Amino acid sequence: MAQLWGGRFTRETDRLVYQFNASVTYDKKLFEQDIEGSIAHVVMLEKQGILTCEEKDAIVKGLTGIRKDVSEGRLVITDEYEDIHSFVEASLIDRIGEAGKKLHTGRSRNDQVALDMKLYVRMQVLSISELLVEILETLLTVMENNLTTYMPGFTHLQKAQPTTLAHHMGAYFEMFKRDLLRLHDIYKRMNYSPLGAGAFAGTTYPLDRVYTASLMGFEGPTLNSMDSVADRDYIIEFLAALSTIMMHLSRFSEEIIIWNSNEYRFVEIDDSFSTGSSIMPQKKNPDIAELVRGKTGRVYGALMSILTTMKGLPLAYNKDMQEDKEVTFDAIETVSSCLMLFNGMLKTLKFNNQIMEKSAMNGFTNATDAADYLVNKGVPFRDAHGIIGRLVLYCIKKDCSIDSLSLEELKFISPVFDVDFHDAISLKTCVEKRLTIGAPGQKAMEEVIRINKNFLAHAWTKDNDRTEYTANRQA
Ligand code: ARG
Repeated sequence: MAQLWGGRFTRETDRLVYQFNASVTYDKKLFEQDIEGSIAHVVMLEKQGILTCEEKDAIVKGLTGIRKDVSEGRLVITDEYEDIHSFVEASLIDRIGEAGKKLHTGRSRNDQVALDMKLYVRMQVLSISELLVEILETLLTVMENNLTTYMPGFTHLQKAQPTTLAHHMGAYFEMFKRDLLRLHDIYKRMNYSPLGAGAFAGTTYPLDRVYTASLMGFEGPTLNSMDSVADRDYIIEFLAALSTIMMHLSRFSEEIIIWNSNEYRFVEIDDSFSTGSSIMPQKKNPDIAELVRGKTGRVYGALMSILTTMKGLPLAYNKDMQEDKEVTFDAIETVSSCLMLFNGMLKTLKFNNQIMEKSAMNGFTNATDAADYLVNKGVPFRDAHGIIGRLVLYCIKKDCSIDSLSLEELKFISPVFDVDFHDAISLKTCVEKRLTIGAPGQKAMEEVIRINKNFLAHAWTKDNDRTEYTANRQA
């Protein structure tokens, strides 16, 4: 049992208490961030005259050595340490002796863990953003290739009006675009360093918090040391953003499952992204889409968990907050794998264009346009609605589509119908007349694609982020 706080105690910690309290089995994920924060801290301590240059050099060398040895497998983070902070400090003292004991000068594990978690989440905000950009790129390709792939659009899961596959995919593009912008907002709001807040009341050492913040690519230091160690808002915001991403993925999955069903056959999921049944030889199941839909609950769970953990906590640090880690790590891993798998499934998804088009023809999706036709001939809309309603009823009885009615049959229902009617309600006309921005008509869609291409070219990702938060790595 390696712990940092034995001095005041006269008896050993109970074994079960030790295990219950320890967090190293999962906070070892913060290893890189713990080292990065420690290096920034000691570089600053030396600049402020709190450590000598030799001490700083010894500590930095020790820390970079530990980082290298762990990443190359020579040093293992075992559960004999209470948490990642204890592991790093103990390993440092092991390596460099006395100077290592000065690493924690002017620091508490409270600001240390707040910093580690912030660095980790900040990095993950960027990683998830990159995965979102990949999905957006896939969607844009599908959109570009399907500007005239006609299909029915639905409301209440009933065929409503015709649209195109490009338009339908464009809806998901907008959702994931908002998700990306949301992550960027979170990044900007969270990007302030808590290091130097100490236990909660700052310290009496002349720390330069602006300097450590800049070393790690933060906008600046947080402005209240009590809030600095007690704040987990950025985790809550991030989990809310992840939940929204999952909600979007889940809706998309649901549509793919429906479209992949024997009844619809709008799409076929590639063999490499489907699974079979152990008993029914004919089955090819959409398991990936179902799992993405299913895992959504798990990410919502993480958000509910942290919201509940935080709701009753008095200021400042409380050990409850250690519970932020496992759920956050799990949610990040879940969303990352869902985005990756979903993108793979989407890239290999086969769209059955003819089946989609046929389905759009056979569901009265042009009924609104038929009513608009009458309106253009001077019939008030409410009357036109009634006339087309009767027309639809007639077709249902006859088991045919509006398009297949003869002019005679049409005139029998209303004398206003004329020879130009069939053209006016063709699938192509119905879609291509919808040209307001955001509508499925080809020209309108081309403009949206142009705007979104430009958006993607400048999208916010690691490559486009100018933060050089690894400045201290050069140390
Ligand atoms: N493992 C702890 C956590 O995750 C680190 C901070 C410990 N601080 C303390 N005062 N006990 O929150």
